[in-house]
Amino acid sequence: MKLAINNVASTFFILAGIASALSIQDSSSALKHKRGPLKPRRVQSLLINPDAQPDLPTVQAATAAASAASLNLDDIQGDVLIGMKKNRELFYFFSIANSTDFKAKLASEILPLITTTTQLLDVSTQPVTFLNIAFSQSGLLALNVTDSLGDSAFAGGQFKDLGNLGDPGSVNWVTEFAGTGIHGVLLFASDTDDNINESVASLESAMGNSFAKVYSLSRLGLVQLPSPATNDGISNPAVIGFTANPSPGQANVSSGSILVGESGDSVTRPSWAKDGSFLVFRQLKQLVPEFNKFLTDNPIIIDGLTREQGSDLLGARMVGRWKSGAPVDLAPLFDDPALGADPNRNNDFTFQHPDAVLATNQTRCPFSAHIRKTRPRADLGTPEDAVHHIMRAGIAYGPEVSTDEANSNTTSTERGLAFVAYQSNIGNGFRFLQRTWADSPNFVHSGVGVDPIIGALAGAQRVITGLDPTNSTKQTTLTTGKSFFHTLWSLAAESTFFSPSLSAIASKLSV
Ligand code: HEM
Ligand SMILES: *[C@@H]1O[C@H](CO)[C@@H](O)[C@H](O)[C@H]1NC(C)=O
Ligand SMILES: *[C@@H]1O[C@H](CO)[C@@H](O)[C@H](O)[C@H]1NC(C)=O
Ligand SMILES: *[C@@H]1O[C@H](CO)[C@@H](O)[C@H](O)[C@H]1NC(C)=O
Ligand SMILES: *[C@@H]1O[C@H](CO)[C@@H](O)[C@H](O)[C@H]1NC(C)=O
Ligand SMILES: *[C@@H]1O[C@H](CO)[C@@H](O)[C@H](O)[C@H]1NC(C)=O
Ligand SMILES: *[C@@H]1O[C@H](CO)[C@@H](O)[C@H](O)[C@H]1NC(C)=O
Ligand SMILES: *[C@@H]1O[C@H](CO)[C@@H](O)[C@H](O)[C@H]1NC(C)=O
Repeated sequence: MKLAINNVASTFFILAGIASALSIQDSSSALKHKRGPLKPRRVQSLLINPDAQPDLPTVQAATAAASAASLNLDDIQGDVLIGMKKNRELFYFFSIANSTDFKAKLASEILPLITTTTQLLDVSTQPVTFLNIAFSQSGLLALNVTDSLGDSAFAGGQFKDLGNLGDPGSVNWVTEFAGTGIHGVLLFASDTDDNINESVASLESAMGNSFAKVYSLSRLGLVQLPSPATNDGISNPAVIGFTANPSPGQANVSSGSILVGESGDSVTRPSWAKDGSFLVFRQLKQLVPEFNKFLTDNPIIIDGLTREQGSDLLGARMVGRWKSGAPVDLAPLFDDPALGADPNRNNDFTFQHPDAVLATNQTRCPFSAHIRKTRPRADLGTPEDAVHHIMRAGIAYGPEVSTDEANSNTTSTERGLAFVAYQSNIGNGFRFLQRTWADSPNFVHSGVGVDPIIGALAGAQRVITGLDPTNSTKQTTLTTGKSFFHTLWSLAAESTFFSPSLSAIASKLSV
C-alpha cells in the first residue's frame, strides 16, 4: 500500500495517521539517543511514494531486517537509506565561524533535530521538517577531527578531483564551491515550503554567529511535481539489513556498500565513523528546452513510428528508460506506463535475452544508455557486480519549463538536478560510475561512446553509437564547447561530504 501524498485518499490517511499517532510513546521510547521529546506532529507523510518505486519497508520489517544484520537504524541519518522520496528540499551549505560555539550548538540545537532512518518509516514518528547534516574534510578539521576517514576522494576535498571527472575545468563551478570554504551542508526536507522556511529560520536563530550560510540550493515554490521526480530513484539498490524483500531485479547490496564500517566495507576506518556515509553532491544544470529541441530535430526513423514517437524513442534510448520509468530493454519501441508504474516488473531485466547476443546486440537498449552505463547488470557477468553501487537521494531544482522557454527552445531560468549519492567508498561509488564507466567511450564495449546524459570528455566532442536501433554503427555526435555539451547538462558544483551517525555527532564531533 502506498503512503499518503495526495489529496485523493487524504481522509483515510488522516484517520490512519491519528490512529498511529496514538502509539507514539512506544516508538519514541525506543529511540536510543538522548533527544528532545518526540511529539506526533504529522497526519500526512513528508515522503512521496511514486507508484514506480518500491514501497519503503514498514518499521517492523526494517527493524527485523536490521536486527538480523546488526544494523542500528536509529543511529543512521534518514536520508542515507531512504533515497529520493521527497518533493521539497533545501540544501544549506555553511561555514563554521566559531568552532567552540558551533560544537556546543551541534549538540544542543542540531543533534536533537536530526531525523533518523527509523523515524522516517512511520508517519507518526516523522518530524514536521526532516533535518540531516554532513561535513566536508575542511569542516571536520575545523572541528579538530583529524582522523583519516580512509577515503582519498573525500580527503582531497571538493575541488581537487575535477580534472578527473571529465569536467571542462572549473568554468562552470558555483564560485562558493571553488576552494575549501564549505564546511558542511544541512539538508531540510518537508512537504511544504513554509515548513522548510520556518525550520531554517528557527535553526539560524538558534545557531547565532557560530556558523554562516555560504550557499543554498532548493526545490521550493513548485506547484506541481515535475515528471522525472516520479521515476527518479526507481532502481536504487536494496540494502541488506534495511530492505527485507528486494523487488525483482533490484540490486541487493551489502550494508557496507553504503555505510562505512559495515559488512562489505573493506577499508579500515576510525570506529566513530561506523554507520556514516559519504555524500557526493553535484549541482547539475539541465537545459531542458534545448534538449527537447535536439530530440525534435533528430527523431529515430522507424517504420510505424511517427516523427514525434521517434523523438521520444531517442530520449528514452539515451536514458535507458521512458518517461514513465519503463525500461527500453523491456519496452523497446513505445512507452508502457503500466510497466513503468509496476515495481515488480520495472527493474526485472538484465539486458540479456535468449534471442540476442549480449555482447553485440543493442537493439533493445544501447550500451551507452545512462542506466546501462551506471549499472551494467549482466554485461559484467553474473552474479552482478556487487561493489559499484550508490544510493541516490537527489532532487530536481528550479522551476518547471515555462511556455516561453518551450517555444523559444531556450532556458531562461536555471533548473537541473541537485544530485546526491551516498556510498561507503567514493572511489568505488560515484567516482567510479562517473569516471570509469560513464566517461569512458569504451565501456562496456569498445567504441560505444560515453553516457549521453552524464558522460563528459573535458569539453571534447562526444560521439555515441547504438542510439539508432536499426543501425548500431551509426554515430550520434553531441557537439561541445559552449554548444551542445551544455544543452544537456553542465556541472555547476560538486562537493564531497561525510554524513556521520548520530552517535558520532554526539561522541566525537560535538565534544
Ligand atoms: C542531470 C544529470 C542526471 C540525470 C538527468 C539522470 C537521470 C536518471 C534517470 C532518469 C534514471 C532512471 C530512473 C532511476 O533509476 O532513477 C537514472 C538512473 C541512474 N542514475 Fe542518473 N541522472 C543524472 C546524473 C547521474 C549521475 C551524476 C550519476 C552517477 C555518476 C547517476 C547514476 C545513476 C544510477 C546509478 C542510476 C540507476 C541505474 C540502475 O540501477 O538501473 N546519474 N538517472
Ligand atoms: C582545537 O584544538 C586546539 C589545539 O589543541 C585547541 O586550542 C582548540 O581549543 C580546539 N578547538 C576546539 C573547537 O575544540
Ligand atoms: C567563540 O564562542 C565562544 C563561546 O560562545 C566565545 O567564548 C568566544 O569568545 C568566541 N570566539 C570568538 C573568536 O568569537
Ligand atoms: C521561503 O523562503 C524563500 C527565501 O527566503 C522565499 O523566497 C519564499 O517565498 C519563502 N516561501 C514561503 C512559502 O514562505
Ligand atoms: C540478498 O542478499 C542476502 C545476503 O547475501 C541474501 O540472504 C538474500 O537472499 C538476497 N536476496 C535476494 C532477493 O537476492
Ligand atoms: C538483436 O536482437 C533482437 C531481439 O532482441 C533481434 O530481433 C535482432 O535480430 C538481433 N540483431 C542481430 C543483428 O542479431
Ligand atoms: C524550436 O525548435 C523547433 C524544432 O527544431 C523549431 O521547429 C522551432 O521553430 C524552434 N523555435 C524557435 C523560436 O526557434
Ligand atoms: C549504418 O551507419 C553507418 C555509419 O553511419 C553507415 O556507414 C552504414 O551505411 C549504415 N548502415 C546501414 C545499413 O544503413
